[in-house]
This record gives sequence, structure tokens and C-alpha cells, in this order.
Amino acid sequence: MSGFPVYVLGGSGYVAGEAIRLILGHPQLALAGVASDGQPGTPVEAAFPHLAPRLDGQLFLSYETLAARAGGDAHCGVISAAPHGASAGLIASLLAQLGAKTRVSVVDLSADFRFAEPAAYERTYGHAHGAPGLQQDFTCAVPEHLPKAGTPHVAHPGCFSTAILLASVPLLALELVEPQLWVSAVTGSTGSGRQPTEGTHHPRRHSDLYAYNPLAHRHTPEIAALARAATGVTGEFAFVPHSGPFARGIHATVQARLRQPVDVTALRNQLRDFYAGSAFVGVVENCPRLKDVVASNYARLGVASDGRNLVVTSVIDNLVKGAAGGGLQWLNRLLGFEETAGLTAPAAGWT
Ligand SMILES: NC(=O)c1ccc[n+]([C@@H]2O[C@H](COP(=O)([O-])OP(=O)(O)OC[C@H]3O[C@@H](n4cnc5c(N)ncnc54)[C@H](OP(=O)(O)O)[C@@H]3O)[C@@H](O)[C@H]2O)c1
Repeated sequence: MSGFPVYVLGGSGYVAGEAIRLILGHPQLALAGVASDGQPGTPVEAAFPHLAPRLDGQLFLSYETLAARAGGDAHCGVISAAPHGASAGLIASLLAQLGAKTRVSVVDLSADFRFAEPAAYERTYGHAHGAPGLQQDFTCAVPEHLPKAGTPHVAHPGCFSTAILLASVPLLALELVEPQLWVSAVTGSTGSGRQPTEGTHHPRRHSDLYAYNPLAHRHTPEIAALARAATGVTGEFAFVPHSGPFARGIHATVQARLRQPVDVTALRNQLRDFYAGSAFVGVVENCPRLKDVVASNYARLGVASDGRNLVVTSVIDNLVKGAAGGGLQWLNRLLGFEETAGLTAPAAGWT
């Protein structure tokens, strides 16, 4: 195995599959092991047949075997794609087993380290935090909104939040709008993970569109906290999530009242300037479409205004930019690699 060793936790899930795919295509990283709670010892390709050509017959590891293997590394990366509630405990246990001998750079893709305070986590998720002592070792931000983490580990904000924050943060930071934002966002069925549920079953979801948890989604407090951290402005987010009849992608529509009339071309240019240094975020002339970004780490924003109201539409891939790809952007930074390494493949366009 050549390349910097990276381990994946939460092995057989959809996000883990995307993390594995991206690591296998990364010029500097090597897939050192994938831990599975439910199926250690079985081939990774049984869960991800499409990745078989690159997996070299790797088997899922138990968490104990993964820790023993990582103990042989001086420094390694870990991407956790385990569910919230489980991820923090798995990370804490791995770090405790490795001790000071192995330096570990963790990116958690679950919700476990998104809040700075355990109390905020407990309020939102309804159970005690799995590793409250570790929370200060994690920073949570969309990579485009914070140049450097300043902590050894990073938490990724997740898919709805990434799409919504990419649209909202420039509006608040540049003081273009009143700080009350109305948001509708539609997610594909992979957003609910691999385990089939009534709400993700194909006959129910196909050819349909419906809202759920209007104004009560658990990611709303995270979005408000991350927007405040990125801009210093306390914004109010009225968020209505929807389930869409497609497998991958998030389409978010953010609406707000302009503080003063600004020409739409000038608004678009202000957003372009805001993201000028960001390789993955493009501000386009028309309304962006999911197929522009699906299966890629790119995000597209579209801007419209009638002189009083501003609309920004935002599209990302939920499993890549909204999880494994955004997480790999952070891991590249933590490890000192080019932020874009392994992430520049464009969308397929016609999926
Ligand atoms: N899906 C998305 O669009 C998306 C976007 C952003 C963030 N996320 C976050 O990414 C994480 C993974 O999401 P996903 O959609 O890939 O979910 P998923 O398909 O349900 O996969 C999660 C995997 O975690 C493992 N697991 C389940 N329960 C566990 C437990 N109690 N302890 C340890 N491992 C357990 C299982 O794999 P093994 O049995 O093989 O270990 C399972 O396949 C979640 O935290 C989710 O919130 C998801």
C-alpha cells in the first residue's frame, strides 16, 4: 500500500461508499481499512460492487482490527461515516486505543461534533453526547467559510446545511438582506441512508414530492449556529425540507428581503467575488440544475431579484459535497495536501 493511510468508519453506508470511492481515486491517499459494525470479515465490494475494480479484495474490518492496524501508523486520517449518536463514541474509543503513539486527523461526517456545546447537541438530538470531552477538539464549518480549522479534527456540517449555508452566508456576511431567511430544500432518497424506510421506499417516493418537518427540522439550529459563526450575524432560518423523487442531490431555495435595492447583476457579482477563491463553488447566470453537480464536489448558485426580494438557488450532491467530498476537502487541509486533491472530477451530467 502506498500513500497516506486513511481509515473509514461506518463501512457499509452510502456516505462511507462515497468516501471509499474518493480515497481510491486520490493521488496521495491510500485506503488503509474500512470498519464495519455489522459485517466485519466480508468483502467491501459486496456492499459496493461498483468499486470492485479498485478494492483489491479488501475485507471490512472490525473496529478492534482497525485500531490495531492504525496503531502501526505514525500519523493517519479517519473519516467517520457512522450514524450520529454512534460516531462520537467510535471516534473516542479509537483515539483512546491509539493514544499518543499515533497522530490521528479525524473528519466526522455525522452530526455528533457540529455543536460546540454538549447541551446544544442534547437539546437537538434528545440524548447525551457520546464524547463531550472531545467536542473542543472539533471545528465545524463549510470549508468555503473557514480557511483553517485551528483544531486537530473537523466536523462536516452535512448536506442540507452545506447547500443552505453556501447560499445564505454571503447574503448575511455582505449585509445584503434582512437577517430573516425563508428556505425550501429538496433532498434525494440517498439522504436517508441505506436502510430502507417507509419514506425512502421507491414506490412511495417515485413521481412524488412532499414536505416533512416544516419549521421543525433538527438541522435548523445547526444552520443558524454555523451561519452566525461564519458571519457574526444572527439569522433566522424558516426551513421547510422536502423529499424529492430522485436518488442524489440537494436543491435549496433561499429567499430574503433586500436591505436596499441592488441590481441583480451587481448581486451576482458580489456572490462571485465572495467565492472567488473557492474552486468548488460557481455562481451561474441561470437557475442551476442538480445534474450540473450530482456525484461531484461542485456546488452551483443562481441569483434572482425583483429589486425588493432576493432568491438564491443552490445545488450540491448530498453524498459528495454534502458529506464525503466536503469532508475530504477538510482532510486534505488537515494533512497539508492541496484542498482540491482527488475532488476535481466534474459531474456526469446525464445520470
Ligand atoms: N446520506 C447523506 O446524504 C448524508 C449527508 C451528510 C451527512 N450524512 C451523515 O453521514 C453518516 C452516514 O450516513 P449514510 O447515509 O451513509 O447512512 P447509512 O447508509 O445508514 O450508513 C450508516 C452505516 O453506519 C453503520 N452503523 C449503523 N448503526 C451503527 C452503530 N450503532 N454503530 C456503528 N456503526 C453503525 C452501518 O454500517 P456497518 O454496519 O457496515 O458499520 C451503516 O451502514 C450519518 O451520520 C449521516 O447523518 C449523511
